[in-house]
This record gives sequence, structure tokens and C-alpha cells, in this order.
Amino acid sequence: MTQQHIPVALDRCIELLTPAIEFSLQHHDATYVIDATLGLGGHTRALLARFPTLIVIGIDRDERAIELARKNVEPFGDRLLISHTTYDQIEEVLLEHNIAEVAGILFDLGVSSMQLDDGERGFAYSHDAPLDMRMDQSTGLTALEVLNTYEHGALVRILRMYGEEKFAPRIADFIIEARNEGRLNSTKDLAELVKNAIPAAARRTGGNPAKRTFQALRIEVNQELSILEAAIPAALKAIAVHGRVVVMAYQSLEDKIVKSYFSEITESKTPRGLPVDLPDSAAKYVLVMRGSEAASEAEIVINPRAQSMRLRAVERLAA
Ligand SMILES: C[S@@+](CC[C@H](N)C(=O)[O-])C[C@H]1O[C@@H](n2cnc3c(N)ncnc32)[C@H](O)[C@@H]1O
Repeated sequence: MTQQHIPVALDRCIELLTPAIEFSLQHHDATYVIDATLGLGGHTRALLARFPTLIVIGIDRDERAIELARKNVEPFGDRLLISHTTYDQIEEVLLEHNIAEVAGILFDLGVSSMQLDDGERGFAYSHDAPLDMRMDQSTGLTALEVLNTYEHGALVRILRMYGEEKFAPRIADFIIEARNEGRLNSTKDLAELVKNAIPAAARRTGGNPAKRTFQALRIEVNQELSILEAAIPAALKAIAVHGRVVVMAYQSLEDKIVKSYFSEITESKTPRGLPVDLPDSAAKYVLVMRGSEAASEAEIVINPRAQSMRLRAVERLAA
């Protein structure tokens, strides 16, 4: 691999997708899996190595990630189709490649280690950089544009909703004051500003006080939650019978969306109390595991990024 990167829960993801892939290999001429978050190609590479005829469709909104994934997956490159888009576009991507359905879809949500470590992208409060935070640098508002143009109320709303920030109104006051005085230009300016906005007593607990503000801005800039809201139903529609969708989420707002879709589609619509499912009201999907899984202690020691990961999976039972 050209960049230092350890794919999270790699063996478990492959294990979860294996029955769906093997079923498809036995019953179809061609078997496809979508890696909805190609990143540096860690999971894709392992899937292509494990299944010698599998074709992976890799989606990523970050052109730099795609460039690196191409290099990392080079030995298997002829079995990787790549789309530079957001993962809610699954239906369009399949149409573009003339593919009707897939055996599995993997989501490894959030930003990659490459994006965080690249000091120029503005994701990390620990590197001084321009306030960009766009995963796709070819489109959309930067974090600085959000900070410079949103009204006080809108800033409070995103800090509260996406950062669960208690001091949202105070931070918004400080943002407005700093932008009016031309003092808000870089990640360092923002991290300092948040530190000053938060009461001293609250600063002593809970890690870097800028963490929640950076998370909120990143979610807003990349429209992460609304895209995920559209992507999960699109993924559920795109998998074949016996196909599986596997999702790794790293923060509770994303995990809540996944959990809620997965519970809804795995519940029978037959009224409670009836002994058998009414025709057409049995659930068409089943949870592969109850609740969610976390990474093992051993994995977290090697790869601290795995600490907050929650993994969920569903399987399609019927058309
Ligand atoms: C955690 S990384 C994936 C790492 C990958 N599994 C690997 O092992 O190399 C997440 C990737 O998803 C991409 N991404 C995040 N949100 C996306 C979206 N809405 N649509 C498409 N790609 C997205 C990011 O650009 C990033 O490259």
C-alpha cells in the first residue's frame, strides 16, 4: 500500500459478506460487490484477493482517495470499476455499468486516515490549514464559507445537531464576532476561538473542546447525514435475494440512522398477536446479528480508529 492505512474489521467484513458472495458465485455468471466507501481500497483489495472472479464497484467522493486506491489495488485493477460520486447514487452507478443487482454492499463511513492526516484538507484541529473540510474538493461550500455566510441561528443549529455542543450559542457569538473582524481563516483560528468561547471549567474535561465543532462543520459541509439517509434505502434495494449490506459507523448520529432503517425493514408488518405472518407482510430482510458489534480490544490496540466503530449487517430474504 502506498499510504499507511489499516482497514477496520477487515476479516469480519469479509466473513459477513462471504455467504452472499458465495451464493451469487454459485448461481450467477458474474458476481458484484459495491464498496461504497472505497477510500484507499483496503477492504476492496482484500475482497478481490479472496474471491478471484469477483468484480468490485468502488465509490468515493474524494478524487485523491480514488487515485490512491487505483495504485493500491493495481494487481487486481481489471476487476475494479470506479465511480467518483456520493454513495447515495448507487442506482445511477449500477445503471451506468449496466448491472442489475449486487451480492453485497460495504459502507465504512466517515473520513479516511489519509484525509485526516493530510494537513492541507482542514479536517484536523491539530494541523493548521485552510478551513476546507470537503471530501470532494471539486464541489460544494467549504467550512470557511459556511462559517462566513450562515446566520447565527443556523450556526447554533448545526453545532447542536451535528456536534451535540452545549455551548453552541456562545461559539456562534464568537464566530460572528471573529468573522466580522476578519480573524477567522484557518483551523487554528477556529480551534482557538472555540477554546475561548467555552467556560474554563468545561474546558478541563472531555478532550479537545474543538472536537465537537469540527465534527459538526464536517457533517454540514459534506451533508453526511442526509446522504446516508438516502444511501441506506438505495443499498437495500440494490442487493439481490441472499445479498447483504454491511455498515461500519464511527459516530452515534450515523449509527442511529443505520440502526433505525435496519430495524424498520426487518420487522414483520403483520399485526402483533397473529400466529403467522400475513401474505406479503413478512419482513423481506433479516438482521445478520442482533444489535451492533464493536472491534475487538486487540484490534483497538493496533488501530485506535476502530475504538468507536459500530458494525451492523442485514440480509435480503425475498424480492
Ligand atoms: C473510512 S474511509 C474508507 C476506507 C476504506 N474502507 C479502506 O479500507 O481503504 C471512508 C471513505 O469514504 C468516502 N466517503 C465518505 N462519505 C462519502 C459519501 N457520501 N459518498 C462517497 N464516498 C464517501 C471518503 O472520501 C473516504 O475515502
